[in-house]
Amino acid sequence: MTAINEVVDLALEGAVAVITVNSPPVNALSANVRTGIDEAVKAAGADPAVKAIVLHCAGRTFIAGADITEFGKPWKGVPLNDVNATIEGSAKPVVAAIHGTALGGGLEVALSCHYRVAVPSAKLGLPEVKLGLVPGAGGTQRLPRIVGVEKALETIAFGDPMSAKVALDSGLVDQMIEGDLRAGAIAFANGLITAKAPLNKVRDRTDKLAVDASVFAAFRKANARKFRGFEAPEACIQCVEAAVNKPFDEGMKFERETILRLMPGVQSRAQRHVFFAERQAAKIPDVPETTPTRTIGRVGIIGAGTMGGGISMNFASAGIPVTIVEMKQDALDRGLGVIRKNYENTAKRGRLTMADVEARMARYTPSLDLSALADCDLIIEAVFENMEIKKEVFGKLDAIAKPGAILASNTSYLDVNEIAASTKRPQDVIGMHFFSPANVMRLLEVVRGAKTAPDVIATAMKLGKQIGKVAVLVGVCHGFVGNRMLAQRQREANKLILEGAMPWDVDRVLYDFGLPMGPFAMSDLAGLDIGWSRETSKSSTPRELLCELDRRGQKTGAGFYDYDEKRNASPSPVTEKIILDLAAAKGVNRRQISDEEILQRCIYPMINEGAKILEEGIAIRASDIDTVWVNGYGWPVYTGGPMFYADTIGLGTVLDVMKRFEGQHGADFKPSALLEKLVAEGKGFKDL
Ligand code: COA
Ligand code: NAD
Repeated sequence: MTAINEVVDLALEGAVAVITVNSPPVNALSANVRTGIDEAVKAAGADPAVKAIVLHCAGRTFIAGADITEFGKPWKGVPLNDVNATIEGSAKPVVAAIHGTALGGGLEVALSCHYRVAVPSAKLGLPEVKLGLVPGAGGTQRLPRIVGVEKALETIAFGDPMSAKVALDSGLVDQMIEGDLRAGAIAFANGLITAKAPLNKVRDRTDKLAVDASVFAAFRKANARKFRGFEAPEACIQCVEAAVNKPFDEGMKFERETILRLMPGVQSRAQRHVFFAERQAAKIPDVPETTPTRTIGRVGIIGAGTMGGGISMNFASAGIPVTIVEMKQDALDRGLGVIRKNYENTAKRGRLTMADVEARMARYTPSLDLSALADCDLIIEAVFENMEIKKEVFGKLDAIAKPGAILASNTSYLDVNEIAASTKRPQDVIGMHFFSPANVMRLLEVVRGAKTAPDVIATAMKLGKQIGKVAVLVGVCHGFVGNRMLAQRQREANKLILEGAMPWDVDRVLYDFGLPMGPFAMSDLAGLDIGWSRETSKSSTPRELLCELDRRGQKTGAGFYDYDEKRNASPSPVTEKIILDLAAAKGVNRRQISDEEILQRCIYPMINEGAKILEEGIAIRASDIDTVWVNGYGWPVYTGGPMFYADTIGLGTVLDVMKRFEGQHGADFKPSALLEKLVAEGKGFKDL
């Protein structure tokens, strides 16, 4: 075996040269990896004993992509396109041996090989679009030539990986290797030598490119909603169009120009920020990675309502048995019925088999008795949002749960320290705040109490990842990170509709900013009567007045908006009159409010609150706040989250506008000390 450099080596197995990349953790295409592969292919080419070449990776995966840490920095080493040209131009067949994830640049390398073999668990894809980019090393030109235009469009513009089976069926993979991949790939290569197989250069193929031009228009139309606001999907489509309409080398040039245009743009910088922010969130300065974790073999859930049901599904889906406790049989039956229906709907959409549904349901042990939780390693409480009830539940749990069990609350706002104090084991108590629908939304706020033990924090964070969530550690305060900032937006939205805007104006501005819906559409969806009762209603806000008219949101066919049978919303004259009358009664002189003011009034106080959250140490870092908003509230990822967005518009601008609003509207806009300090120092949240 010859070491080409620190990360690439070359070994001869009979007539087959095996190039092995070994660059942990994910064999990303750093300058060393690129140069190493290039030199190894050339060395194997020059060796007369070599008749075929296998490209293989050590560790957990085939090349998982370009080295994202190098993006936007000065270029070093051999460009990937040159490495790919070396591979494709090799006079001896090159076989990519794929395990783990062949993503991005990794798949582009594999596409430049003459053949591809893979293990059944491998995944192949071009996720660059998720980083606000197009594949930049021939992916948009080679993939359509091998899998066809429609499949390539879908793969490139959505960025989701395909399984090895799909790759085999679409021609991307030539052979599946069961068992030892390296040995299987060498055997495959020997077969090529014996058969004198041709050098299949993907660049020379055109047979799959003949499509009707309407394919592109149809694809754009069908996905307009999903791509709303994003620049990269359209750029991906244009590159695939270029593959069809231009000769290979011109298509490559177009792809190159496109990625160079996107790379320095705000959207790609924002999306790359989010990629690293999500991974950074797992790192906790005073809870090192080596912290031991507790074993979670069985999870208990208290409450089978909206949240308890959804939360439990995460564990049942991950293969962890669940004990679920309710107060009454009908509530338990209803809860389990909803869970089953959710799973069955997934099965109807072809994403689960009915056998999977039954296996998941079989993991449930329903009970009406809290003492059924005695053997659980983690118990998550999801009962009504009421401190007295929660304290009572935790007091009882203290007597029931086994020693060392983690006791978690899904509270949205309440003081986790106070809840912990109702037990004799506050070190085992933590907040695990899921977001609705809890089986879908990726965010998990892990709330650290003053006395929560480090291994309890480490266990909650690890478990979050295990069930497919992005876990973010936050401290105790009213509403933690997400809901505390949301309250700022909600307050301003409510003020704006009295001052002069209508709910649909506010919603439109925030929707156009990229959020999935505005605050009033969201209230209608959640139900306007959460926390409202006729007995205590004071007719003092539009929401109370709407509820008093039984306009309680989508579920009653009317709320801020009117809804038709298909739940399409339209602005309501009833709501308009309620607002105008209320404003008149309060003596408000309504005025024309610009879209710019609506946006700034709703978003800037959130940024300011985020700064206070950092000042108080409730969030560890600004990027954690971004992770919360992108994963829990649908904040548009192409602006990077509220704190990254603030840096892109400039903190000086945010501060100036806050001060102006403070003069006009008072203390709600008082700038935080951290914002003032950062502006004075000419810094951004990124510099913290
Ligand atoms: N470049 C640089 N670093 C990368 C990387 C890349 N392409 N892909 C992953 N990493 C790093 C992560 O930041 C993380 O570093 P850390 O341990 O210091 O936090 C580490 O590799 C492990 O990644 P992680 O995502 O935690 O592991 P995983 O096993 O859950 O997932 C992948 C592995 C490859 C599926 C996932 O990391 C991924 O999707 N990577 C991006 C792939 C991509 O977009 N490639 C296209 C680039 S052109
Ligand atoms: P829900 O009313 O839908 O469900 C609560 C369930 O708990 C009910 O089925 C009730 O019968 C049951 N319950 C009450 N006391 C009980 C007890 N002593 N023992 C067993 N079961 C009991 O409420 P939800 O929306 O699921 O909210 C639950 C918790 O989750 C609250 O703390 C809430 O703030 C929080 N939360 C809600 C959301 C959301 O969007 N709904 C989001 C995040 C967190």
